[in-house]
Amino acid sequence: MTQLPSISFTSLSAEPRAGTAVYFAAEGEGVPAHLQKLDAASGGTIAKAIQVSAFKGKRKSVIEILAPYGLPAGRVLIAGAGDLKSLNAREWMDIGGAVRGKMPAKTAQADIFFSGLETLTGEAALAFAFGYGLRSYAFKKYKSKAPAGAEGEPGAQENGGTTPGLTVFSDWGEGLAQAFEKYTAVSEGLYLARDLVNEPANVLTPPEFTGRLRALEAEGLEVEVLDERALKSLGMNALLAVGQGSAQPSSAVILRWDGTARTSSRQRSLVFIGKGVCFDTGGISIKPAQGMEDMKGDMAGAAAVAGAMLALARRKAPVRAAGLVGLVENMPSGTAIRPGDIVTSASGQTIEILNTDAEGRLVLADLLWYAQTHLEPKLIVTLATLTGAILVALGKENAGLFSNDDALASQITEAGLDTGETAWRLPLSKKYNKTIDSKLADMKNIGGRDAGSITAAQFLQRFVNSGTLWAHLDIAGTAMASPATDINHSWGSGYGVRLLDRFCEKFHES
Ligand code: BES
Ligand code: MN
Ligand code: ZN
Repeated sequence: MTQLPSISFTSLSAEPRAGTAVYFAAEGEGVPAHLQKLDAASGGTIAKAIQVSAFKGKRKSVIEILAPYGLPAGRVLIAGAGDLKSLNAREWMDIGGAVRGKMPAKTAQADIFFSGLETLTGEAALAFAFGYGLRSYAFKKYKSKAPAGAEGEPGAQENGGTTPGLTVFSDWGEGLAQAFEKYTAVSEGLYLARDLVNEPANVLTPPEFTGRLRALEAEGLEVEVLDERALKSLGMNALLAVGQGSAQPSSAVILRWDGTARTSSRQRSLVFIGKGVCFDTGGISIKPAQGMEDMKGDMAGAAAVAGAMLALARRKAPVRAAGLVGLVENMPSGTAIRPGDIVTSASGQTIEILNTDAEGRLVLADLLWYAQTHLEPKLIVTLATLTGAILVALGKENAGLFSNDDALASQITEAGLDTGETAWRLPLSKKYNKTIDSKLADMKNIGGRDAGSITAAQFLQRFVNSGTLWAHLDIAGTAMASPATDINHSWGSGYGVRLLDRFCEKFHES
């Protein structure tokens, strides 16, 4: 598992050190007032550097001064914070990521002087450090050689070069460390989700994924595994149908966390369901070769659920929640499902499988049934890399959001805006629902050519009982093949972990 960088907090009066020191400057000309003393000590080096680089404190612009005269630091970075009025926690998180991105490759340790600007708060310092840590993630497991010079340096990773640690010097000193634990918890969850999404499918098979989830018992989660026998006896034939062409056995895993002082054993649980298709070839309705390798990420919903559950456990969140994932591999073979096959789902509804590549909804259908019959849901959120069509509709900027409840949809939307893991709501309605009626069975697993993400969501809704609060996030565009951002340069973004964590924290914790 990829390790988080070490992040510590201390007061501004702590001894300045050799190494890299980072200071902030707001938008403006010349040497900012709070850096005048530093400039004087350096014999005007800072002023000169600001002048020759025409540095104006633009947000996320960074200048580097090597071996500054008269200062203990071997390297000084000055980072622009931009217009102070528009700074909020989310912006500080992005600045933290951007500063980490500007860290030269061999930096072992960075000292951040979080002071001098008006409007600085402890919360901002935490958000900065959070973003710094998230940007530090790199999936280097399969690089057999460490980059030259990195080995043995403080912070050097097993085989991944350096992870520069961070010390935040601020007015709040060591006091921030305790408040940062919550952020570390979420970072751990995010790192887990990214690791799972980035892992190739020859390694992360359904049994391997199951094993990694079992290991979360050590983190305080209760882990229950439903193997193929259990799934069969429960009648979860839709999920099993997807995996029946694979040499790997399918499974479903339940992760439970209860951080409430439960007064009644009937207190309901938030339930997060994740699609865990460890590889999606399309099955007999096989996908084209071009880009098929990306389908190792078709378990990103399950990864997000696992990461969020780990975050809740790590920060001992006062909430009752369950994660439920279906782990399968969709392969073409002599035992695979065929177009035209009809299966009876656990709910009793029959499904005509017209395209074996519309497999995620089959997995989720049975998981929805299981959640409602076994997990006492207060509400359900499904997360799945469900349709390519969501990329056509929303690109990589927003996940598709569907819900049978306006209040729940608003909560998810808000949690998305707070974290930057944004989602945009799309409609559900009777007319869309009709497109998946089947002549032979209760429904077919594909609609027409149009509105593919909506018909997929309509399919899921057929497995949601009236009265069950449900939201669905189609994360095919946001969880994998991710564009580089300030806080993420990894292929798997870990989308959903921060959103779910925030959703719990803001709306559902006691
Ligand atoms: N896993 C894919 C969706 C997907 C596409 C995820 C691109 C990430 C990136 C899903 O199982 C799928 O194949 N969906 C089909 C549905 C169609 C057959 C109705 C699709 O989107 O083409
Ligand atoms: Mn598919
Ligand atoms: Zn799929």
